Amino acid sequence: MLANLSWPSLSLVKSTPPQTSTADYVEFVNPQWVRLLDLLQLNVEYTDCTGTELHTSDGRTILDFLSGYCVHNAGHNHPDIIRQLQDELARRGPAMLQSHVPDLTGKLARRLCELAGGRLRKAFFACSGSEGVESAIKFSRAATNRRGTIYAAGAFHGLTCGALSLMGSDFWREKFGPMLADTAEVPYSDLSALRERLATKQYAAFIVEPVQSEAGVRLPHPDYLREAGRLCAKYGTLFVLDEVQTGMFRTGRFLAGQHFGAEPDMVIMAKALSGGLIPCSAVLMTDKIYDAVYGSLKRSIVHTSTFSENSMSMRAGLATLDVLEGEDLGDRALAMGELLRHRLDEALSGYEMVRDVRGIGMLSGIEFQPPKQMGLRLAFEAFRHIHEGMFGQTIVMRLFRDHGILTQICGNNFLVLKVAPPLVVTTGQLDSFVHAIREVVDVMHNSTSFWTEALGLARRAVNV
Ligand SMILES: Cc1ncc(COP(=O)(O)O)c(C=O)c1O
Repeated sequence: MLANLSWPSLSLVKSTPPQTSTADYVEFVNPQWVRLLDLLQLNVEYTDCTGTELHTSDGRTILDFLSGYCVHNAGHNHPDIIRQLQDELARRGPAMLQSHVPDLTGKLARRLCELAGGRLRKAFFACSGSEGVESAIKFSRAATNRRGTIYAAGAFHGLTCGALSLMGSDFWREKFGPMLADTAEVPYSDLSALRERLATKQYAAFIVEPVQSEAGVRLPHPDYLREAGRLCAKYGTLFVLDEVQTGMFRTGRFLAGQHFGAEPDMVIMAKALSGGLIPCSAVLMTDKIYDAVYGSLKRSIVHTSTFSENSMSMRAGLATLDVLEGEDLGDRALAMGELLRHRLDEALSGYEMVRDVRGIGMLSGIEFQPPKQMGLRLAFEAFRHIHEGMFGQTIVMRLFRDHGILTQICGNNFLVLKVAPPLVVTTGQLDSFVHAIREVVDVMHNSTSFWTEALGLARRAVNV
């Protein structure tokens, strides 16, 4: 998901020659994306990437504190995952025949269902998080004979039409309508609003991220997910967790919902399931839902997808689980995440523009707020007026350029910097991040250079 960097006024940015050898990309793929990377000084050429480190052709080492939006839980190019994929290619087995029982699929499905626990006993595989969300929408309709879907405000569920219909933001929807009918938005972590919607008995599913990552790393009230599940069951609506970013031990447990006693009817997984190398997603579901969708010979392939269950992605999923479990990366995420937030609290506590440091496991957010001092406030509001994301992008740019750290702000909350390194991150690397963000925050509070730079960025973005 690249879209956190989206910048509506970019069509006004003057065309500049690409800084790296990206001419074909500019000509044949997406020149605006290259312009945006150039503008933010993020356009470097990466050579080899290992663990948390990204090496560039000009000799820099960048620490990855974004992980491709939670794809690289096992670290970049983990040698065991690469070896298993090489073995898979070397065995020249059946791949994508579409007319056999793929040998690895059942193994991966069993491991995912067992780790998820509860009533989840079947898996459907696909290639992206959005495809997983689309599948869950269809499955819930089939299982309930209802049409509607409820989603939470601030959600990010993906950019295909159905998934996009479960995201309230005008920015993502503009020009792409009409959306799916019969959707309803409720505030996140608000049980009474959910109960009111559910009571109409029109909704097939309530789809929610257990921790809302792109909305600003928002954590639910401790009872919310358990109670939401109970309410859904009471009113005949399926309770679906989107664990695309939060799953695969990112928050310390296999699924973030497990921290909160959630008992979902379906779980959508993707991102880190691929080992960072071969796209793979999964929808875990109850037997009852499976039966409603596929429960006769005639319906045995009623919902499928050409690349679903392909041997490379199944092998990538199995190898990734081997690494995450074998190296205890869930426990590590819990311990290192606590340590990181503790150190961030200490380093940032005296700065008025830092509102909060929060998170769970190795998924954290640093929330900023408008300053009270008049001088800073004027500058802050000026940038916000030009583009809401400008302030956060200046932080991202400085962290990258001056400190060699890759981060991003949240896609649906531009005042929150997301901090999500691979789960193999070391304490030394965490310290480097804490030192870097403290420096940037200090410059922001005590020097005009942060604001002068942000203004320059704003000028270039709108070409004034
Ligand atoms: C929580 C969540 N759900 C779904 C998606 C969509 O996944 P994909 O980009 O693989 O389609 C994303 C993507 O960022 C996500 O963060």
